[in-house]
Amino acid sequence: MGFPKDFIWGASAASYQVEGGANVDGRGPSVWDMLCRQPGRIWNGDTGDVGCDHYHHVDEDTRLMGEIGLHAYRLSISWPRILPEGTGAVNARGLDFYDRLIDALLARKIQPWVTLFHWDYPLALYHRGGWLSPDSPKWFADYAAIVVDKISDRVGHWMTQNEPQCYLGLGLRDGIHAPGDKLGLQQVLLANHHSLLAHGLAAQVIRGQAKTTPLIGAAPVGVTSIPATDSPADIEAARRRMFSITAPGMWNNTLFTDPMFFGTYPDDAFDVFGKDMPAIGPDDMATIHQPLDFFGANIYNGATVRADGQGGIEEVKREVGHALTHMDWPVTPKALYWGPRFFHERYRVPIVITENGLASCDWVAVDGQVHDPQRIDFLTRYLREYRRASEDGVPVLGYFQWSIMDNFEWTFGYARRFGLIYVDYPTGKRIPKDSARWYAQVIATNGECL
Ligand code: GCO
Repeated sequence: MGFPKDFIWGASAASYQVEGGANVDGRGPSVWDMLCRQPGRIWNGDTGDVGCDHYHHVDEDTRLMGEIGLHAYRLSISWPRILPEGTGAVNARGLDFYDRLIDALLARKIQPWVTLFHWDYPLALYHRGGWLSPDSPKWFADYAAIVVDKISDRVGHWMTQNEPQCYLGLGLRDGIHAPGDKLGLQQVLLANHHSLLAHGLAAQVIRGQAKTTPLIGAAPVGVTSIPATDSPADIEAARRRMFSITAPGMWNNTLFTDPMFFGTYPDDAFDVFGKDMPAIGPDDMATIHQPLDFFGANIYNGATVRADGQGGIEEVKREVGHALTHMDWPVTPKALYWGPRFFHERYRVPIVITENGLASCDWVAVDGQVHDPQRIDFLTRYLREYRRASEDGVPVLGYFQWSIMDNFEWTFGYARRFGLIYVDYPTGKRIPKDSARWYAQVIATNGECL
């Protein structure tokens, strides 16, 4: 059976991670520009100022995407490149960049899939309260309306936000990601409520104002549980774990996706967070609960669990020496079977894997090429599981490999390479890795060669 005949094969990236051009053509600063200037925050003092310099390599990068044969490219829009102050005056040269990028993609028959927010929050708005401000949903909706007006004649696939678990959890609670705050749970949950309202308002803007019929989703982390065996008890344990809030933090699914898809917070959110949950306005949940056309999920790995025989769930310890990527993340291909299956069972919309991939220790070999057998093996294993989910009846729309090119891996700077294309940062030279040629074959055969 294999993948569906109209399956979309893509690759992903994000504005702050690949664009560079941080102080070019009117772009305003983001919270990541601020964090990168705080000593010790980012590996080696790296910044997104130049990085891959995608801003000045649009033709070459879209040519390379075309040579791989991508059906689609998932990009994010830099909010402060469009609105340097986050609201108010629009930066026409910022819009022009995305015009050029989208036209270059379409010229190569590559569908642009657009994420409106992938963490580069306007610094000016952060100083006005950021996601804590009750005005933040409208700020986001107004930004969305400007982008939709400009590019929705050519863009039909939209994701509102990327990984609220990270920009709220790592950015506002743990102090690790930008803006680097360590707020109390009550404030982080209020920020999440505003972020969810922003998602809903933006979805309304896209649905109501897009110039072509839009498909709308989001791109949360897919926090995945894998059953230790295929026994009904273990499968039920994994399903329960995946849709539970087991700790007072942001690393879960349902705090975000139940409001989006059901219009309600899950009951255990009130059990776990209690008085820290935000006050909910009479129309809030209806605003958040907008019709969505697919479940986008960023899935890299999962935790293995089993039923403990007394009605409980226990996590299964990984064996000594288990496989790790360069991020020290475990290699767990079955996450790309069970994640899609469980998400579809719960939310009943088609699945798009909006990110999956690995960082590996890539460098230019003596023959001038970049050989990355680990990436080929990793992706083979994960894609075989995703194909199995499809063959078991899960409607899968597409797959976006993270990432099209090596890029700024947040606090790891440029020390972690996720790309199908190697980037030599000092010179800007691009070298398609072995995995790029392999992925071209996967696309050409619609996964038959896996
Ligand atoms: C994420 C982000 C990406 C990361 C990638 C590798 O999922 O954390 O969406 O920006 O760079 O996942 O960590």
